[in-house]
Amino acid sequence: TTVTTVLGIQYPADSWTNATPHIVAKTERALHRTPHHPVAIVAQRIAHFWSTQVPDVHPPMRVVNDMPPVATPAANFDSLLIAPDHPGRSPSDTYYLNQHSLLRTHTSAHQAQLLARGVPNFLCIADCYRRDEIDASHYPVFHQMEGFRSFEASDLKVLTGGASSAFDKVWDPSVNPKQTVHDVAISAAVGHDLVTKLEAMCRFLFESSQPLEMRWNKDYFPFTAPSWELEVKYQGQWLEVLGSGVVQQPIMDAAHPTRPAGSVVGWAFGLGLERLAMVLFGIPDIRLFWSTDPRFLDQFKDVDPTDPASLVTFKPFSAYPPCTKDVAFWVPKGTVLVDNNLFDVVRGVAGDLVENVQQIDRFVHPKTGRESRCFRIVYRSMDRNVTNDEINAVQDRVRAALVNELQVELR
Ligand code: DAH
Repeated sequence: TTVTTVLGIQYPADSWTNATPHIVAKTERALHRTPHHPVAIVAQRIAHFWSTQVPDVHPPMRVVNDMPPVATPAANFDSLLIAPDHPGRSPSDTYYLNQHSLLRTHTSAHQAQLLARGVPNFLCIADCYRRDEIDASHYPVFHQMEGFRSFEASDLKVLTGGASSAFDKVWDPSVNPKQTVHDVAISAAVGHDLVTKLEAMCRFLFESSQPLEMRWNKDYFPFTAPSWELEVKYQGQWLEVLGSGVVQQPIMDAAHPTRPAGSVVGWAFGLGLERLAMVLFGIPDIRLFWSTDPRFLDQFKDVDPTDPASLVTFKPFSAYPPCTKDVAFWVPKGTVLVDNNLFDVVRGVAGDLVENVQQIDRFVHPKTGRESRCFRIVYRSMDRNVTNDEINAVQDRVRAALVNELQVELR
């Protein structure tokens, strides 16, 4: 194909193009705008927290859920100070329509755009796309929520009274440095506001009879400093919930070109909605979010995002049996096989029938120097039994596609 059409707009192909029709089709789904869909419910529940529990955020967080999924590298990377050689930019990690247009890899892509529109405080919810492995918790399309709060000098004055000794345990500036342009008091005040609000958000979300255990770890993002990730203990396991930090001042300053540098300061966070929905509703496989089976969707139809008593635990309709097939091949001499390319070929043929793909063997032939690789593919439907004959036919098409698209030699 020489042109890819996404939501009615055409993108001419070039040597960067790697978004497959299977992936592009997902841009039509908008799960986060589908009433009663668990991804939408979790987003609404978090939005409900911000609209009812944090009266000091002015203007209130604006909910933005209709940003189109195609972004420029400038918005997705440059505006966030992501370096030109950052691996996330590579076509092995990111879906490109062409050199100038990609499927957004995170909702942070919209920080600068929304600030420039004059929206200082927002929750931005959107579908995001990343080339990745295939298993129960990875899917090349997922949903994020970006939270963003801006502070004017007058807001900061109110805040700086608030920093507490508990925050000293969260922030160690010697390993998680502030920005040189920020006073330590400003950085601490903004960080403290971020940390207390996000802890309250998680308590609201994971509400139970026991107090919620949480821990903050230092993190690194090109667009924040200091930066933290937040983990919560849920059913005995530490679960990474979000990344966050004090927004890099050049991002704030670029968005406010008529204001003196440093006059508006911000914090931001980004969280994965499927991950939260999986634990909150007990959804065992990420493919289920894409199911149109009423046995999945109907389980959420009476959930009210504002009423924790209405939350439900998902009841799997049946564990259909898996069907496992291996494929082994020689990689063309002098080339490197990118795993994500193989995963997209398998998904392109098998769609959501593929549950897991794992390499089980890899060696270089001592005499010929050729590289052999073997992958195990687990097929399983979410909603019915599959026959061995049916899967054999799928596997044959996968094998043919690997030869065609990756030039491998089957063994
Ligand atoms: N964009 C990051 C990601 O996709 C998540 C994130 C981290 C968002 C820190 C933020 C932030 O706004 O401050 O992994």
